Order: sequence, then structure tokens, then C-alpha cells
Amino acid sequence: MTQAPDLAPPPTLEVRGGRKNFGAVHALRGVDLVARAGEVTALVGDNGAGKSTMIKCVAGIYPFDAGDVLFEGQTTHISSPADANELGIEVVYQDLALCDNLDIVHNMFLGRELKKGFRLDESAMETRAAEVLASLSVRTVRSIRQHVASLSGGQRQTVAIARAVLWNSKLVILDEPTAALGVAQTEQVLQLVRRLADAGLAVVLVSHNMNDVFEVADSINVLYLGQTAAQIRTKDTSRMEVIELITSGSAGMPAGAVAPRPSPDAPERATRVASATATTSDATTTTNGSTSA
Ligand SMILES: Nc1ncnc2c1ncn2[C@@H]1O[C@H](COP(=O)(O)OP(=O)(O)OP(=O)(O)O)[C@@H](O)[C@H]1O
Ligand SMILES: [Mg+2]
Repeated sequence: MTQAPDLAPPPTLEVRGGRKNFGAVHALRGVDLVARAGEVTALVGDNGAGKSTMIKCVAGIYPFDAGDVLFEGQTTHISSPADANELGIEVVYQDLALCDNLDIVHNMFLGRELKKGFRLDESAMETRAAEVLASLSVRTVRSIRQHVASLSGGQRQTVAIARAVLWNSKLVILDEPTAALGVAQTEQVLQLVRRLADAGLAVVLVSHNMNDVFEVADSINVLYLGQTAAQIRTKDTSRMEVIELITSGSAGMPAGAVAPRPSPDAPERATRVASATATTSDATTTTNGSTSA
């Protein structure tokens, strides 16, 4: 019998069994993540669950101690931020790292300025910055030569996100982009997040906010005490279930769920995200059936 070819492209990023210790602290004890092009994947979990550590490992700030990272289906080792950038991974950290005394253009090219001989190529940077902002339908900034200090929180977030997509990025990771924003600005940033995915990027959205998650995410990955409790399609789950997973690491098995297999090499490992079978179809859910501490 011939097998039908698997036509689904591999995920942009896949983490399998990622582990990270800081001395005696087991920050990540078996994390699995699948982030697909064209989708927003939310990464949720309680304080200290390991979300920031996970994204820093993917960004090459501290490499995983164990586990596999696949980028576009290829096993890869990300051991520095430069490695991550080279693959097309960009992270927008919560503090944004923008320079208040510089304008939008200079912030977008910070550390990677375009040069013409020994001078900055101001007009090329300005043109490119304007193109990127226009491509993201950003219309709320008055001038791209405005100093960042004069921008609202939502506009600052927009500049940081635009900076991340300037570099032919394939995966953009956003750490709590709406945490400090009001209602209208949150809406603008969420629309921008959605547009990034609609433009074909894989987006990972770290968030505590269930409204944000259910508004924009296609898939939700829940971390619990340094382990992946589940990655579920948003349309197949509910806020109640996600909150249960966040607080206890387990939930009633939803329809289509795959029971977790105990792993001999990692007894406390929560799940294997059903990445191998995950497509945009429904059968992508795995949940952690047991609560671990
Ligand atoms: N550099 C570090 N050295 C030692 N322990 C660390 C370090 N970074 C994180 N940890 C520990 O790892 C665990 C996970 O932390 P992490 O910051 O990843 O959580 P988080 O899910 O991002 O939480 P929050 O929602 O509060 O941002 C915590 O117990 C934390 O104390
Ligand atoms: Mg964090």
C-alpha cells in the first residue's frame, strides 16, 4: 500500500522536550512547542511557569540544556542571538529596548544601521522603515522622524514589532505586548499581531490575558511548572479549560485529544505536543493527563 505524501509544510519552529536548568532550578523540564507560518501561537502559563526562559532559549540567549529544536523541519542549534537572527527569529521583549532619544527610523535600525561608505544611509533607512510601517497598515504615527519618547505605549509597541519584521523574519516572538496598554491600544496591537500572521509569519504571543489569546491565537500552548501541559487549537478549547491547564497542568480531555504517553527517559515530562500530526486540522490536541509537581 502506498502512503499518501504529507503535503503540510513543517512548522516554522518546533521544540521537543526542551530542558533548561539554572543551577538547582529546573526552569524547563520538558517543553514542546509548535509554531506554524500564518498562525499565532499563544504561549501561556502562570508566573514562573517558564515562558520567558523558553523564548530566551529559542532566541539563543541561553541555549536549551537538552531537547531538540527544529526550524522549518531541520534540526538546528541556536547558541546565540546571532544564530536566531540568521534563521529569521526575532523577539520583541517586554521592555522593548527602544531608545527614547532616537527617532522611529533609528530605533528600527538600532545596531543594524544601513551605511553608505562611512555614513549612515538615512534615506534608505527612512524609505525601508516607511515601507514596513505601511505594509503593517500602521497609520497612527505622525512622523517616522518623531522621537520615540513622544510615542504612546501602543505606538512604542508598534515600532518594536515593526523593527522585528524589518529583517525578513520568519518567526516573531512577542512577550506580553499588551500588558501595559489601554483598551484601544491593545486592540491596535492585537490587530497588528494578526496581520503579521496573515502576512505569512509564524507568531508566538506570550500572554497572561485570555481575552487577547482567544481573540488572536490559532493555537494555545500551556506551560505548567516548566512543562508543556498541552498545545490545543483555540477553536477546540475554552477559557475554562485553558485556565484549568494553567492552574493545575491538566484538564478534562477534549474531543479529539490524544492521551499522553509516559516517557521512560523523562518520567515527569508532561506531553509530547502532537506536532508530527499537527496540521491546521482538528486533531492537534494533546493534554497532560496527570498533575505533576
Ligand atoms: N537567570 C535565572 N537564574 C535562575 N533562575 C531563573 C532564571 N531565569 C528564570 N529562572 C527561574 O525559572 C523559572 C521560570 O521563570 P520564567 O521567567 O521563565 O517564568 P515566566 O513564565 O516567564 O513567568 P512570568 O509570567 O512571571 O514572566 C522561575 O522559577 C524562575 O525563578
Ligand atoms: Mg516572563
